[in-house]
Formats: sequence, C-alpha cells, structure tokens
Amino acid sequence: MMEENKYTVTAALPYANGPLHLGHIAGVYLPADIFVRFLRMKKEDVVFVCASDEHGAAITLRAKKEKTTPQEIVDKYHEINKKAFEDFGIEFDIYSRTSNEIHHQTASDYFKVLNEKGSFIKKTTEQYYDEEFKQFLADRYITGECPNCHNENAYGDQCEKCGSALSPEDLINPISTLSGKTPILKETSHWFLPMDQHEDWLRTWITEGKLDGVQQHDPKLWRNQVNGQCMSWIDGGLHPRAMTRDLDWGVKVPVEGADGKVLYVWLDAPIGYISATKEWAATQNKKWEDYWTGDAKLVHFIGKDNIVFHAIIFPILLKEHGGLILPDNVPAYEFLNLEGDKFSTSRNWAVWLHEYLHENPDKIDELKYVLTAIAPESKDAEFTWKEYQARINNELADVLGNFVNRAIVLTHKYFEAKVPSRNELLAIDLEVINQLKSFPEKIEDLLRRYKIREAQSEALNLARLGNKYLAETEPWKLAKTDMNRVETILNIALQITANLTLILAPFLPQKAKKIASFLNYNESDWNQAGSIDLLPDNHALDKNKPSILISKIEDEFVAKQIEKLEASKMENQTTTFPPQKELTQFDDFMKMDIRVGEILTAEKVKKADKLLKLTVDTGVDKRTVVSGIAEHYSPEDVIGKKVSILMNLAPRKIRGVESQGMILMAENSEGKLSFVSPEEGFETGAEIR
Ligand code: 2FM
Ligand code: ZN
Repeated sequence: MMEENKYTVTAALPYANGPLHLGHIAGVYLPADIFVRFLRMKKEDVVFVCASDEHGAAITLRAKKEKTTPQEIVDKYHEINKKAFEDFGIEFDIYSRTSNEIHHQTASDYFKVLNEKGSFIKKTTEQYYDEEFKQFLADRYITGECPNCHNENAYGDQCEKCGSALSPEDLINPISTLSGKTPILKETSHWFLPMDQHEDWLRTWITEGKLDGVQQHDPKLWRNQVNGQCMSWIDGGLHPRAMTRDLDWGVKVPVEGADGKVLYVWLDAPIGYISATKEWAATQNKKWEDYWTGDAKLVHFIGKDNIVFHAIIFPILLKEHGGLILPDNVPAYEFLNLEGDKFSTSRNWAVWLHEYLHENPDKIDELKYVLTAIAPESKDAEFTWKEYQARINNELADVLGNFVNRAIVLTHKYFEAKVPSRNELLAIDLEVINQLKSFPEKIEDLLRRYKIREAQSEALNLARLGNKYLAETEPWKLAKTDMNRVETILNIALQITANLTLILAPFLPQKAKKIASFLNYNESDWNQAGSIDLLPDNHALDKNKPSILISKIEDEFVAKQIEKLEASKMENQTTTFPPQKELTQFDDFMKMDIRVGEILTAEKVKKADKLLKLTVDTGVDKRTVVSGIAEHYSPEDVIGKKVSILMNLAPRKIRGVESQGMILMAENSEGKLSFVSPEEGFETGAEIR
C-alpha cells in the first residue's frame, strides 16, 4: 500500500467576539475546507483543526462594550460560530475553544518548556498605563497613529491598515481605549521573545525553505505577499516581543511570582492548534504527535493580518520547543470588501454568515461558489449581490445546471434512464475523452499550489466542455436518424457528469452529491476522476426525473439584500456615536455661558488648513473666535450665520490669534459638521441653556 502523507491543516482561530461574516469565510475557512476535502478524497491522512480564540483584548473589550463578562461573550459567540460553520459545511475534524482545560494545560506546559530552555528574556520595562482604570495598556487597549502608514487608528499590537506588527511604544500619540486619555509610563516585568536572535535562520527558512541545511518546504509555493511581508519585517530588523501581559483574562503565566499576568494571546492562540489536535486525537485513538512531528505537513490558512504571527512568531516558538514541524505553507488571503466598502463589525457593514444561512438554507453551495470565484487570493476583492446573482445564473445555472440536466433528461427520454453503450468513436468523441482525462491532474496541481479560485474555475470548465460537446453533436436531432450515435454521445455525456461529481466535490459538496444521486452513483475517490468508464453500460440512473440543480437568482432577491444592507447602515448610524458621558451637576452646567451669536466676518488663518478666524456679534460685544471648521466651510459660507457660542471659555492663543470663545458644532457619524443655530429670526445675544 502507498504510504499516505499526514497533513495538519489549520484555519485561523476566529475570536469569539462577534459573528462570522463573508469576508472571514472567503479568505480563510472556505479555501481551507476545499483543500481538506480534496486531500480526504486523495485518501491522505489529514486532520483539520480550528477553535474559538477566546482570550486577548478582542474579547475583554467586547465584554466591556456589551456591559457583560468575557465568559458570556465567548460562550455566546462560540456557539453561534460553531453552528454557522457546521451549517455552512466547513468540516473541521474538531472545532475547539481556547478556554478548554486541555488548552490551558497545553499552553501552560509549552510556556514552561520554553522558559526552562531559556527561550525568553525576562525584562522590566516601562509600559503604558491607564491611571484611571489602573491597567497596563497593551494590544487593543491602546490606539494611536501607525508610524508606517499614518493610519490614526492603529492598535498597540498591529496596524490593520498596512498590516505592520507594532508595539505600543511605536504608536504616535497613544491613547487608552479605556479612558480615552493619554497614558502614563509605569514599570512592569515581562517575558520577551528575543525575535532579533532568530533573524538568520528565519531568512534562510523563508527564502530557501531550508532549516539546518535540510529542505523543509518549496519556497516557490509560498505566496508572494507572505514572502514579501516576512522579508520586509526581517529586513527591517525584528525586535524582542513581550509574550506575557498584565491582564486577568487568559492562560495564567505558570511561573512563581507572575500573579496578575497571562500569556500573550498570540502565544496562546497558535498553540491552540496543538491543543485541538490533542483533543481530537484522544477521541480517535490516534497520536497527536504523528500530526506535529516527522514528515507531517503543517498548513496554516490565514488572513493577511495574521502573517507575522504564523510565518515568524509561531515558527520561532515551534523551533524553540524542538521536535515539532514548522509550517509547510502559510496560504494567506487578502481582504474581501462588501459593496464598495470594507466589512466592518462595528459599523454593521457585513453579510453575516449565520443570517445568510438562516434565510437561504437552500443556497449554500451557491454562496460557496461565488466566494471561491471571487476569493481574495492575490489581491483584495469585492463581494456584491449583483455579482453573486450573475455568477450563479450565468455560470452555475447556465453551464453546470444546464449540462447535467440535458445529459440526464435525454437519457431518461431515450434510454429509460439506463446508461447506453459507447459505440464507434469519432474524432470529436476522442477529443473530448482526451480532454476529460487531463482535468483531475490540472485541478490537483492548482489545489496543491493553493490556487483554489483557479481550481474551481477549471472544474467548472469540465461542465463547459460537456455543454459544448452536446451543442456540437446535437443528440436530440440525431435521435430521429441515428440512435447508435445518440448512445455514444450520451454515454460520454454521462461519464463527464459522473466525473463532475468527483471534481466538484471539494468545492460544491452538496451539488456534487445531488448530481451523484441523479446518477445513482456513489464514489469519492479522487483518483477515479478522469476515467471514461465510471458508469458501466446499462447502469440504472435514479428513476425519478432530476430536480432543478441550480435555481436562478431573481432581481428581487438582489434588491432585497441591498436594501437590507442599506437599512443596517442607517440603523447603525445612530449607534456609532460615543456613549453618554459621566453625569454632571446642574450647577456645573450653568457655569457655561452659551448664547446666540452672529458671524460678521470670516477669513482663513495663514498656514492652518483647518482654521477660520471669525468676528462674532454676541449681543453684548463683538469678539474674535478661531474655529476649526475651515475644511467644512469657506469664509463666504459662514458670514451672516446665527450660531451658538460658548462665551466664557478662557481665551486661548491659537496660531498666534487670541480666540475668545468657541462656536458649538454638531458632528455626524461621517464626521460632517453643522452649526447649532436657533430658529429663523431669533435675536443675537439670546441665552442658551
Ligand atoms: O486574527 C484573529 O482573528 C485571531 N483570532 C487569529 C488567531 S489564529 C491562531 F494563531 F490561533
Ligand atoms: Zn499602518
């Protein structure tokens, strides 16, 4: 017997802090599932693991926002996401959670091994601290400007815009996400991974695929953006990175004197792949080590924002541990956008997987097809409902549905639903048979190079070939004159159909199954594909006429989906504003002297793009006010406007001009400004309270 390869395929552990949307699915879980389904059909020994990532600031901050506990958050979203994966047919061998005992134990032991080996350096450093909340600020607890791309909302561990891995001290103008205030610096001790000491071997391993002189993987099979990102980090110089945090939610640091400290979520989460394998192996009477040592191949499907953690940090941790394999590949995906905008959980701009499945339980493979067809493999891509409709109608229905239906319906019509025999073969038949043979290998090659989008498109080409063959041979015309020819043509068409059940199965498992049921054919060995003899002569198809394989998507469906998105956007606009501030006392409020004023003159302030210098009639005097509205209003727009002015604000010099008061402005969710003006005809000087 041929020795099978062992594969450990992982899909990034999603944070249990919110539901999954189509962006997550297209760029991690679906391609991973396709790859694994293919490997299973090749009879490889594969374990496909995933779990909820239940630690880290993503969770604790969400709990704070929803005014609940981290435990409640992870319990809720773990269930929602686990079910959504199941309903969508992402067939993990295990979907675990990092809050499980086995994971805490595994991560804790792992830390101890590394600590004892001296893989960490313990250091006391000054870190940002929020005095109001009495908490150190790491990761998402701190935001500021990214030093690389100048995105103003970069997190303390990462800039989501340019993908750089950051440390809080890299941020320009850091702000605590707890209090909104500028943090102070305070001393604390942590275990650091001296990543700078690993640059040399990482460089060789990534660029040549060699470790200690031994070939580990084929670097040409790594995506350019993965190589590119890794090399730019390494070339820029790696820095020691803290592997522990001052938090109370997570895996406790298993060392004396580490009270109040937990493992960094990016140390604990990837170890979750190992814990999940252990948990699975225990139920299968297998050894988890077989999947993490020796010749086993480790493949991490991830989004591009996870590259540094899977291609640099986790490999360092694996190598330091010793005895474990390093990833064979890290297929990373770019981002998927939605109808011209980024998917955003906070803005509710998303198509949620669980909602889609609830509303369209009969359109699962349809969604799979579209998401794979537009998968952001090499660049960002976009999901639109119009394209969803076009791809399903013009490709799935017109090509696949049409071909399968014709082949089977004609067999019912002429041959009582039995497979006719192949008679003398003409050139056109030989050509088709020849082409058929080449499909499985082409698709296999694409899949093994992680070109999953192309692989699916190639698989559909087999249905295209079938359609073309029927259109050229026109068996429905020959039925009057040459039944012998019709037998041959339909035999070939049915063999192509049977082949489709195999080569479509990784991508469209339900449709493949349905076609197989029409054919009364049940085979799942990829190595059978390419054969022209899958169905023996006289084999009886299902005696019922085939039902519709792919229903077309109506315009109303598309309109409804777009409407729904727009509505959620509107709804959400009321919730993007900050929550109510702390209570204040009446007397404090009454200290403010706010009045209706009228703008008499306005001019731009030199060398300050945002500022206008105004003269305002306050009813009691005329005074100068500098206002930061120049990007929204030109001077001529504002002259004559009645506005609200805070009169008794202590005067301040702004760009050399003394400002005596402040004009009140309302700001909407898109950052547009509006004056707060009284009704028409209201007199200047009127008090506002
Ligand atoms: O980016 C994320 O959503 C992380 N929760 C992914 C973790 S992957 C792994 F390392 F566990
Ligand atoms: Zn950036």
